[in-house]
Parts: sequence; C-alpha cells; structure tokens
Amino acid sequence: MEIRPLKSFGIEVIGVDLSHTQDPEAVAYMHQLWADNGLLLFRNQRLEECEVIRFSRLFGELEIHVREEYLSPNHPELLIVSNVKKNGKPIGILSDHEVGWHHDQIYLPRPAVGSLLYSVKIPDSGGNTAFCDQAGAYEALPVSKKRELEGVRAVHSYEYFNRQWSEPTSEMQKKRTPDVTHPLVRTHPISGRQAIYADPGMTSGIEGMNKADGHAFLNELYDWCLQPQFLYEHKWRLGDAVMWDNASTMHRRGEFDPNAERIMKRTTILPPPQMAVPI
Ligand code: OGA
Ligand code: MN
Repeated sequence: MEIRPLKSFGIEVIGVDLSHTQDPEAVAYMHQLWADNGLLLFRNQRLEECEVIRFSRLFGELEIHVREEYLSPNHPELLIVSNVKKNGKPIGILSDHEVGWHHDQIYLPRPAVGSLLYSVKIPDSGGNTAFCDQAGAYEALPVSKKRELEGVRAVHSYEYFNRQWSEPTSEMQKKRTPDVTHPLVRTHPISGRQAIYADPGMTSGIEGMNKADGHAFLNELYDWCLQPQFLYEHKWRLGDAVMWDNASTMHRRGEFDPNAERIMKRTTILPPPQMAVPI
C-alpha cells in the first residue's frame, strides 16, 4: 500500500483492492489515516454492491438511510445517488443539479461519521464533488474566535436541506427526522481533533440566537472555512471510491449535463456506539 496526499488534507491510497481487503493491520492503518486526513481516495476499483458494503463495514456499522425510496433494491445499506430514471421514476437521490455544502446526516441525533461513495457511471464533465477541511479551518482560527465558539450549539434540519437542494420527504420520514442541535465545534470520535461542525445546507441556525444573528454568525464562519487552502475538489473517474469523514469535513456537488447519466452508490458509516453523540 502506498499513500499520496491530495492537498493539505485527503489521501490517495494506492495498491489496495477493496474487494479483498481484510488484513486487520491494514484496516487499522486505513482507519487512522481516514480519521487524521478527512478523506481517502481509492482509484480503479471494480466492486459489486456486496463488496462496497463489506469494505465499508470494516470501518463501522452502516446506517440504513431514511430515504427508503432511493435504497438499492437488493441492498438497503446502499443509497443510490443518481439522475437516472427507470420507468419514469428516479432510481436515486440528488439528480443532476447543484447540491450545496452539507455534512451527511448532521440532522440526526447520532449522525454518521463517514460516507463511502463509489462511482459506477459518470458524465464526461461536471458533477465534481468538493470537500472542505473544517478541522484545518478550526485549527487556523485565532484563539479569541475559538473561545467565542466554546459551548455554542447549532441547529440542524433535514427539511432546511431538502427545501434548498433535494426533494421533500414523506410525512413518516419527517417524523423520523426532527431538527436537532449539536456542538458547533465537534471533537472527532477517533482522532480527537476539533472541527467546525455546521454547514450552509443543513444548519438552520444557532441555539438561543435569532435567525438573522444566527445566519450572520454562521456566514462569517463559512467564509473562513471556504478559503482555497481548506478545499479539495474531486473530479471523478470511473471506479473511484471516496471515503470521507463527516465529523471533520463538509462537501458539495457541482451540477452536470442532465442528458448525461451519473450513478453513484453510497454507504453511510456510524461511529462506535459509545461515541455516537457528537461532543
Ligand atoms: C452524498 C453526496 C455528492 C455527489 O452522496 O452524500 O453528497 O457527488 N453526493 O454525488
Ligand atoms: Mn452528501
């Protein structure tokens, strides 16, 4: 196994076939690498659905996503992200439009710590996924700002995200995803690093602040996070698997030609149960 840094964060792992990985030492090494660097990229994979699931499970239990209409028919651990329609019905979520900055599942009381996205069909151009290193952004803040963030809690809402970037949920799904609050600075369950834990897509406000003040406070933080030194934009190739860390990074997707087809398969990885609630 060889590793190559992508930017100031993110690592490409070379020489690993995800369909065969099982050596506990190699897995432990990758787990630490992932937690410390925010994102792992594996290129040139050829994976069956069950192999994507098996590999993902080496890093934690998998969440079954609340959008059951977009789960793989044979493997509910896989969420399909796609603009392809079959018999007039979308096979996946997020279609071909822009998807703004977000953390997967920040809106749950016990949010996922990671996601693995595997590319099955991609357009010739567009549909890139950008990542923002919010641990690096936090570390670079002046001490006075870090103090200001201590004890602050942010409010997260799946509805807020769906109104901006996705489709409405059913009444049942709404009941399963009420708004939640988490600390605005999250300590990573494995690396112990602290990161800004809020995003423009899903964070609807700051606890105890009115809407306008909350948004102003958050927007200033986002401007800081979205500086080029904290960003990596991934241009997908067929067979790429990107496993990102949802505790220390947020991501967004660019739009692409609606006439092109894009199919991605995603698992959502939970932290160890004793570390399930963000601190
Ligand atoms: C996701 C997501 C972006 C993409 O699967 O959580 O945000 O590039 N996908 O499709
Ligand atoms: Mn996402």
